[in-house]
Amino acid sequence: MRAHEAGALHGNDAAPTWLPYPADVNTLIDGLWSRGTARAADGAVEVAGVDVRRIAEEVGTPAFVLDEDDFRHRARAFRDAFGEAFRDHAGADVYYAGKAFLCGAVARWVEEDGLGLDVCTGGELAVALRAGFPAERIALHGNNKSDAEIRRALEAGVGRIVIDSLGEIDRVDAIAQQLDLRASVMLRVTTGVEAHTHEFIATAHEDQKFGLSLTAGDAFEAVRRTLSASRLDLVGLHSHIGSQIFDTGGFEVAARRILRLVAQVRDELGYTIDQLDLGGGFGVMYNTQHTPQTPEVLAAGIAEIVVRQSRELELEVPHLSFEPGRAIAGPSTQTLYTVGTIKDVRLGGPHHRLYVSVDGGMSDNVRTALYDADYSCLLSGRVSEAAPEVVRVVGKHCESGDIVVKDEYLPGDVRPGDLVSVPVTGAYCYSLASNYNHVPRPPVVAVKDGEIRTLIRRETEEDLLGLDVG
Ligand code: LLP
Repeated sequence: MRAHEAGALHGNDAAPTWLPYPADVNTLIDGLWSRGTARAADGAVEVAGVDVRRIAEEVGTPAFVLDEDDFRHRARAFRDAFGEAFRDHAGADVYYAGKAFLCGAVARWVEEDGLGLDVCTGGELAVALRAGFPAERIALHGNNKSDAEIRRALEAGVGRIVIDSLGEIDRVDAIAQQLDLRASVMLRVTTGVEAHTHEFIATAHEDQKFGLSLTAGDAFEAVRRTLSASRLDLVGLHSHIGSQIFDTGGFEVAARRILRLVAQVRDELGYTIDQLDLGGGFGVMYNTQHTPQTPEVLAAGIAEIVVRQSRELELEVPHLSFEPGRAIAGPSTQTLYTVGTIKDVRLGGPHHRLYVSVDGGMSDNVRTALYDADYSCLLSGRVSEAAPEVVRVVGKHCESGDIVVKDEYLPGDVRPGDLVSVPVTGAYCYSLASNYNHVPRPPVVAVKDGEIRTLIRRETEEDLLGLDVG
């Protein structure tokens, strides 16, 4: 807690130290908004030429507003950057991680833009297959795949199943046998890397549920068993170290450890593993504290690491694949809310906090509650000359942890009926959405060239009541 340097009249004492006092609270901060986001002549925010007031009128709020060109631009940027960085070696593919956000239209864009697709449940696989996504470009993940999921993936002809445990090797082999086909598999290796991110989204340290441990020898044993299984083709090794990661240090350690395993397999089993998947996890800018690197810089950095370490181990540089989800989907989308109740809550002495309630909340963005994420927001239906106030944007759920944006400056005259936009909600917001308190989930609309297209319609109370058949 601190007072603003301009004195007590400016904002209140509730701003965290990282949050700069805005020179102009109406500014669209660079890097936080999709490429098609701008202020229209009268000050309202528009996305791809569509005024947010029109979106609110036509589809209501809350609504996820996805800038189609932005999404596709990022998808292609990752595809090109990694392809380019490994062009002089065995090449690299990019699989979009559908868990970040998936629907039929997104699957079709990803297909058209030449990426593969990472799915991790039968449900995500069903979306991809219904959209006509080519099965050979799908990777199926999951630490607890059911037999039905494995069977369906094999029947559809998915390009690879990423095996996550020793027991799964026999299960995939047996199902492939029953179906009289062969299964291409990767093995997910736990490299023991402690990614610098929130505990719940770091995935390669030892004490968690994913993957086959390198240090315990499970990963080597999995390679041995896979090579001797009658129906399995070992495509390569996989490592995903976590999510919302900004530096390449974690990838460096993971790549070194996994390449050592490749060398060990070569030396002890006489088999050459020529493909690696280093997962996703590239961080995005949710607020001014975050400084993500461009896909080009990331790809060049990781290529340098992989090439150098392959040379050190006298290995051919393998074919690489990557699985970004957040960095493609996240920045493409903003959530549009309407302001309702506003409360100025006294915190003792001169301290106070302005609580601005919106018509959604933790049911459409649980990341603040779950990961302590710091989102930003903007008054988007108009500009204002009022002095900035630190606010806390909260939802309509029956829970005090129902916070969407912990701290942000909004114009002090923010009032009921105003539109507020929260940027960078394209990843893990809709896909983590719930019906808590029987609040129907918002729609996802794509905007492009001045047009609005509904990708996922708003859930209705009838939808919810329809589930209640008892
Ligand atoms: N590949 C694998 C094997 C993964 O497990 C994940 C994410 C990704 C790729 C994509 O990671 P990304 O590039 O999107 O960071 N719900 C959490 C994130 C969970 C990530 C799970 N796995 C959040 O909202 O931050």
